[in-house]
Amino acid sequence: MPKAAGIETVGIVGCGQMGAGIAQVVAESGYAVVVREVNDDRLRAGLEAVEKGLARSATKRKAAAAEREAARARVRGVTDLAELRGADLVIEAIVEDLAAKASLFSALHRIAPERAILATNTSSLNVTELAAASGRPDRVVGLHFFNPAAVLPLVEAIRAVQTSDEAFRRSREFAASLGKTVVSAPDTPGFIVNRLLVPYLLDAIRALEAGVGSRDDIDEAMRLGCGHPMGPLTLLDFVGLDTSLAIAEIMFREFKDPRFAAPPLLKRLVLAGRIGKKSGHGFYEWGADGKKAG
Ligand code: 3HC
Repeated sequence: MPKAAGIETVGIVGCGQMGAGIAQVVAESGYAVVVREVNDDRLRAGLEAVEKGLARSATKRKAAAAEREAARARVRGVTDLAELRGADLVIEAIVEDLAAKASLFSALHRIAPERAILATNTSSLNVTELAAASGRPDRVVGLHFFNPAAVLPLVEAIRAVQTSDEAFRRSREFAASLGKTVVSAPDTPGFIVNRLLVPYLLDAIRALEAGVGSRDDIDEAMRLGCGHPMGPLTLLDFVGLDTSLAIAEIMFREFKDPRFAAPPLLKRLVLAGRIGKKSGHGFYEWGADGKKAG
């Protein structure tokens, strides 16, 4: 797949679950990647995840060692945001919090080149509000990847009210150059996928609370009865219960629709620090190898 015109270097802010997956795909597609984390420990962990993903993908594609090494060499980790000064496009994948993203975009506006596009990987926040806070509203878009970003072939491209035709076209072109299928989604909370997925996931928790089925039976029923790759409670652990709660609360605030109201069990698990696979505990127990342990 050829690279998108005018984009050579891509900045990625946040190298957690989503940022690491996005960094992997972008590097594999031939772009230079500068990935920023807030401190050395988080950066080390993030880069390890990128490297693991690159190795897995190279094995799957039977890629030569040199190809894998070339992709790895295209990724540079930094802790100083100012290092993104050469990026043609920046994708943020930080915490799902409007104030944090807005202040990041305003800082990026001062650092990134005039022509650079600022993209958010938000799942549910208002892209128009982020654009307004950025200082370059016409060059702000949403590019929403799905977890695991290296595997799932969809990107939702979200156009804020202020996004220019050119910035939207270039962003779509960039996402397509990663080998992704791009759908345009409106700037309404949850866009297309989460608008449909989040009520389903929350209903699975409500079904568990109501005793409709056990944890394992609810998951097996949806996996085997509907052909889903994983059951909803496993998927919640996979996405992260903290992220799922944040998304549900944002969507509930916007729509005031009880379908988006977070069930008490979700809130309690998050308060207890049981936030899913990344913490080792959620609806399930997870081993250090990333596999279910109970
Ligand atoms: N790079 C490249 N390939 C990778 C990879 C990586 N980093 N990680 C895994 N793969 C490949 C594997 O090699 C394997 O390839 P193969 O089928 O050719 O052998 C394939 O992906 C599947 O991996 P596994 O065999 O390890 O695992 P599973 O078959 O159990 O699949 C899964 C795992 C892809 C996660 C699958 O269970 C799945 O698709 N689950 C649903 C995930 C989902 O719904 N995600 C969306 C969440 S919503 C979201 O993200 C939005 C947000 O806003 C909340």
